[in-house]
Parts: sequence; C-alpha cells; structure tokens
Amino acid sequence: MTSFDIQTIQTELQNKKPRSILKAALENFDNIAISFSGAEDVVVIDMALNIRKDIKVFSLDTGRLHPETYQFIEKVRKHYKIEIEILSPERELLEPFVKEKGLFSFYEEGHQQCCGIRKVEPLRRKLLQLDAWITGQRKDQSLDTRQDVPEVQIDTAFSSDEKQLIKFNPLLNWSSAQVWDHIEAYQVPYNELHQKGFISIGCEPCTRSALPNQHERAGRWWWEEATKKECGLHAGNVDSK
Ligand code: ADX
Ligand code: SF4
Repeated sequence: MTSFDIQTIQTELQNKKPRSILKAALENFDNIAISFSGAEDVVVIDMALNIRKDIKVFSLDTGRLHPETYQFIEKVRKHYKIEIEILSPERELLEPFVKEKGLFSFYEEGHQQCCGIRKVEPLRRKLLQLDAWITGQRKDQSLDTRQDVPEVQIDTAFSSDEKQLIKFNPLLNWSSAQVWDHIEAYQVPYNELHQKGFISIGCEPCTRSALPNQHERAGRWWWEEATKKECGLHAGNVDSK
C-alpha cells in the first residue's frame, strides 16, 4: 500500500465515475479484493480487469443460494478465466445453529443470526487478510440504508485495533439502468434469475421476484422493515443511522 490519506482521497473521489474510483482502489492497494455475488459485482470485475489482470475475487457461499446463482458464479469464473475464492460458513457455528433453530428461523426471528453465521463470519475471516475491499453497493439500492455511503470509507464494522480496513464502492453513484447498460454493451455475464423477474438476488429462501415498479430490494427479506434490510456485510450503513 502506498501512503493513503482517507480524507483527501474521499474528496478526490466524490461523485467520480466507477472507473476512476476503481483505478484509485487498485493503484493504492495491492492486497485488495472484490466481493462478488450479483450483477453489479460482475461489472466491477469487468472494469477492474481492464486496469489490472491480477485482481482477487471472493464470494460468500451461504449454502442457501439458488442453483442459478451457483451456475452464474461458474459462468463468471470461466468467462473471465479468473479464480473466485468461495468462502463457506464455519461448520462449528452452523451445525449447532441449525440443530437448535432449524433451517428457516429467519422467518420467525429475523435474518440477523443466520446471516451472521452464513455471511458475516466468513466475510470477517476473509477481510482479516486484506487491506481493502471493493463492493458493488449503489446508493439507489436503498433509500433507507445506502444514501450516505461514500465512494471510499474506513470500514468501521470490520477494522480491528491492529488494522484499518478500507472499503471502496465504485458503482455508488450509478443507477440500475447504468449497470444494465454496461452489461448489455460489454456482453457481461449475468444471473439467469434476472430473466425471471428477480432484481436484487440474495439467498433463495430470502429472495423473491419483484413486481413492475416495486423497489429493487422489495424482494429481499420481504417480511422485514426496509431499515433492517442489511445483512451485516455492510453493517456500517445501519450503525451510522
Ligand atoms: S446484502 O447485504 O443485501 O446481501 P447486496 O446483495 O445488496 O448485499 O450486495 C451489495 C454488495 O455486497 C455486493 O455488490 C457485493 O459486493 C457484496 N455481497 C453481497 N452478497 C455477497 C456474497 N454472497 N458474496 C460476496 N459479496 C457479497
Ligand atoms: Fe440466512 Fe437468509 Fe441471511 Fe441467507 S439471506 S444467510 S438464508 S437469513
């Protein structure tokens, strides 16, 4: 990592285009990785490969993804000829949890505990090895939780006393239409579920298709309030409220 002044770079990157934000991320950090699951993230991968060939990509396999999502991950791996590190939940946490609460506790108790074990713990393990990470978050994905997210930030949720973790959100200011325009223009692979009415895609039991004109995250954890629709990967979005 070269010397990195978060405030200066925040000011420099404010309202910048995705490519400029990505370039700053990949030029300032060697030990950086892209977190990949959805349409936005492939656009990030697509752009990043034009800046640097040795990008690192990881995906959190919760064990509850749709078959189409697993196929999509494989499609992306082959299309770009990249390695994708697949992270699984810790068996010692998952097995007692399922034994005690069953496989669908989130419908009754909310998604926090299940997401904590299946997504957040594996993510924390991965982020401990990195200096910075890149997400596909966009502001307009959530009026409740993503409006104040900056282009680059100190990740307060995953930094430790020993190490400050930096998080880049290069697509922050793009709309869904801009993402899909890039996907079409550059023939970027996408999840087949998008052809079946799915917009924002997470785990299979916690995602459903959305109706025309519904908000793009309406199909995620639809039984919970909009302000709680963060799974903990981006916990800072909720803590800062
Ligand atoms: S979530 O918090 O609601 O699940 P969302 O689906 O909006 O997140 O995705 C926002 C960003 O979080 C993605 O662009 C990606 O960078 C990261 N992300 C979400 N789910 C995963 C996953 N399963 N594996 C890796 N990264 C993920
Ligand atoms: Fe569990 Fe649903 Fe969270 Fe997936 S999205 S980890 S199934 S609560």
